[in-house]
Amino acid sequence: MIIHRPPFTIHHFTSLGSTNDHLKEMVGAPEFTCVVADEQTAGRGRRARTWHSSPGDGLYLSILLLPGTDSSSKLPLISLLAAVAVAETLIEHGVEGVDIKWPNDALVNDRKVSGVLAEAVSDGSDSLRLVLGVGVNLNHQSFPPELSETATSVAIVTGERVVVEEFRDQLLAKIARWYEHWRRGESALILDRWGRLSTYARDQRVIVTLDDEKIIGVTCGLTETGALRLIVDGGEVKTILAGEVTRLRKCAK
Ligand code: BTN
Repeated sequence: MIIHRPPFTIHHFTSLGSTNDHLKEMVGAPEFTCVVADEQTAGRGRRARTWHSSPGDGLYLSILLLPGTDSSSKLPLISLLAAVAVAETLIEHGVEGVDIKWPNDALVNDRKVSGVLAEAVSDGSDSLRLVLGVGVNLNHQSFPPELSETATSVAIVTGERVVVEEFRDQLLAKIARWYEHWRRGESALILDRWGRLSTYARDQRVIVTLDDEKIIGVTCGLTETGALRLIVDGGEVKTILAGEVTRLRKCAK
């Protein structure tokens, strides 16, 4: 089924392996093509993880963006703006305690409620095609054992079911608005909003897991391209481009 929600054209499916994978296969699709599925049988997360995508419980969507060729340093901001849009939509749905964990996980009560997987697609030409995948846990009442301590859903925290299509349309409108800011070069607006929605942005003692090392430090904001700044022991400021952030609790004396 095709649904028009300007600027987006939504291709809706009952079931897909992964909405990101399906959109990547839609060769020649125009910008703002959007693929949504009621369930994913092979939903993918960052760092080669799977994304739990049970039928009707979540929003599983992917959007095609054509950000242009001269903007590569600003590309990470697109994932950040997607997280901002998710956080704002959750707040609009009455969810309290929404947080963003760098770079783009939406959390509630320190549990993950949404994630973003942005993937570049090469079509042989110079133009960059970016598939922006967003998963939001909406109506899940429970999660598989491996996620039961770390994941939550809107229904679990508010006690109310969410109409997935309503949430989808609100989220898409916000993504369109923030992406327009991005296109106009208004990075500072995105970074400022991200910083106000995230308790991780500043003064948090965290451990960052990189591919082959772990770094402990205190967060001190983001760079203008969305990298995380960390003050490590000795006072040096390190810039983290990619990694898994975990908050370290202060020990009671
Ligand atoms: C993460 O690991 O936090 C990112 C999760 C991204 C999941 C979404 S669901 C829609 C889209 N299709 C996928 O296969 N993954 C993304």
